[in-house]
Amino acid sequence: MARFVEKLPALKAALGAFDLRQAFAADARRFEKFHLQACGLHLDYSKHWISDEVWRRLGEALEDEQLPAAALRLKQGAAVNTTEGRAATHMDCRQRLSDEQHRMLAFVDAVLSGRHKTPGGKNYQFLLHIGMGGSDLGPRLVVDALKNGTGLSAHFVANADAADLQRSLAACVPDETLVVVTSKTFSTQETLLNAATTRAWLDSAVGAEAARHHMLAITSDALRATDMGFFPHNIYTFPASVGGRFCLWSCAGFAIAAGCGVADYRQLLAGASAMDAHFLSAPLLHNMPMMMAALGCWYRNGWGLHAQGALPYAERLRLLPAWLQQLEMESNGKSASTLSPVPATAPLLFGGTGTCMQHSFGQWLHQGSDIVPVDFIGVLVDDRQSPEHHRVLFAHLLAQSQGLMKGRSVAELQRAGVDAALHQHKFMPGNRPSSILLLSRLDAYHLGALLALYEHKTYVQSVLWGLNAFDQWGVELGKELQTPLLAALSGGAVPEGLDASTHANLNLFLKK
Ligand code: F6P
Repeated sequence: MARFVEKLPALKAALGAFDLRQAFAADARRFEKFHLQACGLHLDYSKHWISDEVWRRLGEALEDEQLPAAALRLKQGAAVNTTEGRAATHMDCRQRLSDEQHRMLAFVDAVLSGRHKTPGGKNYQFLLHIGMGGSDLGPRLVVDALKNGTGLSAHFVANADAADLQRSLAACVPDETLVVVTSKTFSTQETLLNAATTRAWLDSAVGAEAARHHMLAITSDALRATDMGFFPHNIYTFPASVGGRFCLWSCAGFAIAAGCGVADYRQLLAGASAMDAHFLSAPLLHNMPMMMAALGCWYRNGWGLHAQGALPYAERLRLLPAWLQQLEMESNGKSASTLSPVPATAPLLFGGTGTCMQHSFGQWLHQGSDIVPVDFIGVLVDDRQSPEHHRVLFAHLLAQSQGLMKGRSVAELQRAGVDAALHQHKFMPGNRPSSILLLSRLDAYHLGALLALYEHKTYVQSVLWGLNAFDQWGVELGKELQTPLLAALSGGAVPEGLDASTHANLNLFLKK
């Protein structure tokens, strides 16, 4: 039987020419029909290329995919990570706190209250989080969005380029700094390099013995952390069944609790857990992650579009696009599908904050030769900024979504008396799709719900594309090829059989 994504080209053909402006003019209830609320999030998907008939048929086609059963499999710990024979248990992390999470939170509480002091008898003031990918992006995003002055001053390091670490070390006072080395495998080269350099920084400031007390390890491989000199009581673990890009909810979220407070960590998990409940119970056409997943496949596999945009109209969500890129593109940027022929899978995800993006790639969105569906992500109540700023921000969010749909016709330009020589240049095609996704408030609870929403959308799309969302074999080749090149750059032999480009550039570095 044809799968959902294989039915979409025919559905597109059945829809024929579709114009959002005409769709709204023809149906005063369009917004009501294509609008969902869940967990304090409002999803307006009325500005998408869907008619009542198409939406009905999309729903019918989705029924055959058994998505509620797929959601249940995820929840119940089935081995959805087929190539590694593992479950994906990120929902468990927020369903109920593990003993390890309780132990972590108790330690954070002791640090923030001053009961747990540095070996030198001071209160910790700084947190240096060292991680990469999912061991960095999630905690970094959440702390950046929620930091409120109550926790430690948190700084994040990921890149092998020492400029990243140097910037953070310059902001921290060593004898008041808690270093958290976060790595699921405890084998990521950049993380271990940054950890070693940071250890030397601590050693020179507080002495080698005291330095060990300043350093925590958060990992699924406690043995490796122990072998690297971390005190066992300073190692916090999370299960190997928690995927790297899904780990912020686990002890890998240490920086969230220490940087924003234990209450915010708990509220973040509560919001995500509420979205889990919605995902597991809401009927298909009222299921926000399932509908967002279906829409994404509609454009990817029905219309052959190559990209999607994530545009947070909230400076505090500026890191959301980067987190989404790993979540969606590392989960579904694959071609090992159970479907045959393999469908087009995850599109490029790009993004940027509003209003700034209007002054960079906004031009491309309105008049570029490519059409991409975009998610405008906004906030209804933001008590951290003045009403005036918030009104300006929100008005631009609405105007961008409206403008992408409305465009500006030649007739309108003529009526406006625009010089005919400029008509071609000022013409805006319009009919460009977008969602408006609004958080009731930008707080821990609603941020948790938002992140879980996209996690579930990603998982549902992996089901629709026949992919394993939870492995990432594509990152292995680069890592393997780097090893002999690093050896050569470090004075060892130049590998045999290098292509001319790699060889020449290697020599440029060696002979610089
Ligand atoms: O990019 C590959 C990857 O394994 C990601 O999936 C992961 O989030 C990141 O590297 C870091 O891995 P670890 O947490 O094991 O250091």
